[in-house]
Amino acid sequence: IRMSVRDALAKTDGSSTVIKLQGWVRSVRAQKEVLFLHINDGSSVENLQIVAEPDLKNSGVSFGSSVEVQGILVKSLHKKQNVELKAEDLRIIGPCDSVDFPFKLKERHSPEYVRQFPHLRCRTPTFSSLLRIRSEATAAIQEFFKTNGYTHIHTPIITSNDCEGAGELFQVEAANKSPAAGEQTSFFDVPAFLTVSGQLHLEVMSGAFSRVFTFGPTFRAENSQSRRHLAEFYMVEAEISFTESLEDIMQVMESLFKTTTTALLTQCPEDINFFSKYVSPGQKELLEKLLQNKFTVMSYTEAINVLQKAKCPFHYKPEWGCDLQTEHEKYLVKHCRDIPVFVINYPLELKPFYARDNEDGPQHTAAAVDLLVPGIGELFGGSLREERPYILQQRLDRLGLRDTYQWYLDLRQFGSVPHGGFGMGFERYLQCILGVENIKDVIPFPRFSHSCLL
Ligand code: 4AD
Ligand code: MG
Repeated sequence: IRMSVRDALAKTDGSSTVIKLQGWVRSVRAQKEVLFLHINDGSSVENLQIVAEPDLKNSGVSFGSSVEVQGILVKSLHKKQNVELKAEDLRIIGPCDSVDFPFKLKERHSPEYVRQFPHLRCRTPTFSSLLRIRSEATAAIQEFFKTNGYTHIHTPIITSNDCEGAGELFQVEAANKSPAAGEQTSFFDVPAFLTVSGQLHLEVMSGAFSRVFTFGPTFRAENSQSRRHLAEFYMVEAEISFTESLEDIMQVMESLFKTTTTALLTQCPEDINFFSKYVSPGQKELLEKLLQNKFTVMSYTEAINVLQKAKCPFHYKPEWGCDLQTEHEKYLVKHCRDIPVFVINYPLELKPFYARDNEDGPQHTAAAVDLLVPGIGELFGGSLREERPYILQQRLDRLGLRDTYQWYLDLRQFGSVPHGGFGMGFERYLQCILGVENIKDVIPFPRFSHSCLL
């Protein structure tokens, strides 16, 4: 029978079974009488030890090559592993030239070095582990929404709107436009962009579904070299109808974070332990802390006061009305003893047209919230949406967006309900729970300014 490394390692009943296994060689140790191999097939952080005869047929087996092994799975005498595979037949499927192969046996390569090989990076233990966690996290997030009665909506990748209004759009254009055929620009002569957020499409759906979510790629033309920005990233977004309180939205945000993280600790403990041991020491303890404590809440105005009282010299001076910079966000989290903090009620002018007006006097704010987390800063952004047609219309007029968003105003005419929602950057989530410094190391194929490899 064919078995995965994971299943083979789990067979601890002591019975000897004949199995066939395929994978890639993670280590080779040849002795006079035996050849020890460690095989991995992506199913587990652990490798399976193969014990073979060092005969001529096996002499070409090297670090990185792909092999098929048939043999008997037996109880191992070594303390480090439960089972090992006594090879009866070992076949090299694809040889690997160890001189040219960029990764070397027994060497720990830096993330910067490994990043240079996007086509081979999945061979390294760390990236392989990351990809398994990423896959489990995706499933756990889907599970969270399913359990809580949300409908999954596929929001479009190509859109005509700039949801965030920040002008960070990539325009979609046909590559085969020929002047002879009449200069066809853009998307068949209509303006079209890669989506920055699925929010507005979710808001359409929240006119008929009380709970919806989407989870897909989003795009930002931010010319940023930061360790937390990508040009293409995955966003988890939810929209909740019939709510008038930001607390309801915050409760879902906190619950999504904690439920997903708890699921990961039970679904892939070995991979999480691997990160906590080799990538970010102490991460396990930080996770426990994040899970055990109720997240803090602080108003934007309080946050500015805290920052102004800080002894820490900031690059950007904190002042009421200014957006919080990464350095400010990180300081605020430290101030809250590394417990995630919801910052609520931002100045209205800082937030996009859809954010609900708090109508609260000279320091005019919107019912918007960001969740700030250790090491990263902003992980979630959310708000109540302006559902009152009169106020929305005035806001759109002020911003010169009335024509563009006539359909959005329309939604407020036909059975409109108070609603709100949020978006969580999936890569930032992975960075946060795994303690990964650079966002480029938590996505299979990173796209950022001046780089689109593969
Ligand atoms: O704060 P943002 O821009 O909010 C929205 O797009 C809302 N429309 C979401 C909603 O309410 N449905 O983005 C949400 C999150 C941020 O908090 C951040 O975690 C992540 O998306 N994010 C990025 N992640 C990686 N690279 C970038 N360039 C990112 N920009 C935002
Ligand atoms: Mg934001």
